[in-house]
Amino acid sequence: MSDIEQKLKEIEEHAREAISKAEGIEHLNEIRVAVLGKKGTLKNVMKDMKNVSPEDRPKVGKWVNDARERIEEQMETVRSSIEAKLLEERLEAEKIDVTLPAKVQKTGHRHPNSIMLDEVEKIFIGMGYEVIDGPEIEYDEYNFTKLNIPANHPAKDEQDTFYITDDILLRTQTSPIQARVMEQGKLPIRMIAPGRVFRSDEVDATHSPSFHQIEGLVIDKNVTFSDLKGTLDEFSRKLFGEETKTKFRPHHFPFTEPSAEMDVSCFKCGGKGCRFCKGEGWIEILGCGMVHPHVLEMCGIDPDEYQGFAFGVGLERIAILKNEIDDMRLLYDNDVRFLNQF
Ligand code: DAH
Repeated sequence: MSDIEQKLKEIEEHAREAISKAEGIEHLNEIRVAVLGKKGTLKNVMKDMKNVSPEDRPKVGKWVNDARERIEEQMETVRSSIEAKLLEERLEAEKIDVTLPAKVQKTGHRHPNSIMLDEVEKIFIGMGYEVIDGPEIEYDEYNFTKLNIPANHPAKDEQDTFYITDDILLRTQTSPIQARVMEQGKLPIRMIAPGRVFRSDEVDATHSPSFHQIEGLVIDKNVTFSDLKGTLDEFSRKLFGEETKTKFRPHHFPFTEPSAEMDVSCFKCGGKGCRFCKGEGWIEILGCGMVHPHVLEMCGIDPDEYQGFAFGVGLERIAILKNEIDDMRLLYDNDVRFLNQF
């Protein structure tokens, strides 16, 4: 009897000491298994029950149960304090400093090209034009042949570009869209076609191997050069201000005849001559002309019945001019500190 009592005492003391030194929940669980588990030290004591007289058994059973209860109670206390300590540590580690400055959400900004294109589209849509799209990868036939630039034509050399196969290339101009639209045979035509073009140009302050043009085309009966002039006059006034004057200088483009380059009076000095217009008073803006009868024919239109005019504007060119940007390369950096200024 007293043997068992002594044994129980030792087990309890041993367990209590281990519990008081437990370093974590896992450790505590190990002690629970070792003491209270199926093969635990407390269960082991029960094996000695057979040596206890039947009348003493209930008493011994009570001792065992009491010891178990005390051990469980202590375990619970230690468990709660370990958990409280863990929570405290976690809260400390995850502490948020509400006085830190907030992360600023930066919004992007529209590109000067996009802003300029919107403005141009608005002007032409206001005059009844449609906005048309065309492929950036184009057939040599549309980019050159149908625009009156046959193989071996010197104009082809000037624009030689990135060929994909012998007859497919990255378009050098948006003019092929003219041919594509005319071929569809829906007349009259009033369209502009903006898009990216590619040339084997070296990068500098005014050149890039990839830039944007806006093509314009009008085909109708009785269209004359004065329609061209009136339209581009109106466009220039809307874009650069009501005071703007235009000047048409004879030029050569294979797909128009006659052809011209159009200058606008400098919107900085009003035409007197300043640093901006390099003292000229005029700034070159675009190429234009009356659609060549041969081009009309190649695209299935009878030149005796229909005439038309066309023009091509460099988008970057007018975006740079209007915003007084002195280096075209800035347009391709997409640095929001630059873009934010427009
Ligand atoms: N495609 C010409 C170029 O890239 C620009 C141009 C000139 C377009 C005259 C036209 C035009 O439609 O009539 O230089």
